[in-house]
Amino acid sequence: MSDAHAGDDRIDAATLAAVQRALVSWFAAHARALPWRGEAVSAWETWVSEVMLQQTRVDTVVPYFTRFVRRFGTPAALAAASEDDVLTHWAGLGYYRRARMLHAGAKAVCERHGGEVPSDLAALRELPGVGPYTAGAIASIAFGLPAPLVDGNVERVLTRLLALAGDPRENPLKTALWSLAARFAAHEDPSTVNQALMELGATVCTPLAPRCDACPLRPHCAAAREDEPARYPEKAPRKAPREERWTAVVAEHAGSVLLVASAGRWEGMLVPPMTAGHDGRAEDLVDGVEGVTERGVVVHVLTHATLRVRVLSASLRTPPKLGVLVPWDALSTRAVPAFTQKVIAAARSTEGPTPTPARRAAAARPRRAR
Ligand code: ADE
Ligand code: SF4
Repeated sequence: MSDAHAGDDRIDAATLAAVQRALVSWFAAHARALPWRGEAVSAWETWVSEVMLQQTRVDTVVPYFTRFVRRFGTPAALAAASEDDVLTHWAGLGYYRRARMLHAGAKAVCERHGGEVPSDLAALRELPGVGPYTAGAIASIAFGLPAPLVDGNVERVLTRLLALAGDPRENPLKTALWSLAARFAAHEDPSTVNQALMELGATVCTPLAPRCDACPLRPHCAAAREDEPARYPEKAPRKAPREERWTAVVAEHAGSVLLVASAGRWEGMLVPPMTAGHDGRAEDLVDGVEGVTERGVVVHVLTHATLRVRVLSASLRTPPKLGVLVPWDALSTRAVPAFTQKVIAAARSTEGPTPTPARRAAAARPRRAR
């Protein structure tokens, strides 16, 4: 264990150079082929990919990235789009604020930089939605500048490599990691060094079971030597997510579903009519519903909240006065979050009502001898 204050001088120049060399040759042999890697990738595509990757797994991002840059191939193309169009192309990826900020960033690039992604760190940092990580990623990966970046992967690799104690999201370790990352990026190929640190964290130096035997940094790694690599980084435990209960109505009219614009969590996107609690009545949520049927409880896990949504299906004989009707087969062409898709799927399930947790527990009781 070492003093987190001293993170920056925990690695001498010769070891740093050896580690950089190991990272670069490992990356050449083991990097995954991904659509945002390679010579033909524009700075704009790097930006889009790094924003998508910030809260989302690579496998999930790939198809979204491909579709998004096909539709919005330049900052100007995104800047010219409506927010609804942008959110439609982001629908299902979650953390929709990222899409709105990317939209704002693209507009700023058009206003300030003639539509070209700027190639200096200070100008990048002034763009809306571009924080230290994203600026470092664009500067180093797209432009080859010696700019540092620290994400969760880099935090993990560096705290393990150097056995750095403390919470990487808090000072003093946070600052120490950024200055260490700056020393790593001071290299003839900062793009590869930065990507290799992240790729190693994503594929070898993983959170729960790092594969030290397959790791190019093993000869230099303090945590592997201590034989308990997974104890780094020493992150403070996250607060337990809030539990929220809701009742949602999936009302059908003539082959379409009634949705409303969310004013809260999914602002600008479409959700079913909902009310807080599990006691809501469909008749109070939507005028003129018929055939109201219980469809069980859907659980949707978000970062800070777990939603337990009691789903009711119903039909409407006359068109609704409020909201929008979206044909069942057009849901993927609208700004519909994964949450809405899940609630609709529960309402339309051909297996009939899924049991609520209370009923499921009751049904399971005779069989579950303890
Ligand atoms: N995670 C986020 N960005 C990444 C990148 N460019 N390479 C590897 N993992 C990443
Ligand atoms: Fe991570 Fe193990 Fe490699 Fe150290 S040797 S960097 S703990 S995978």
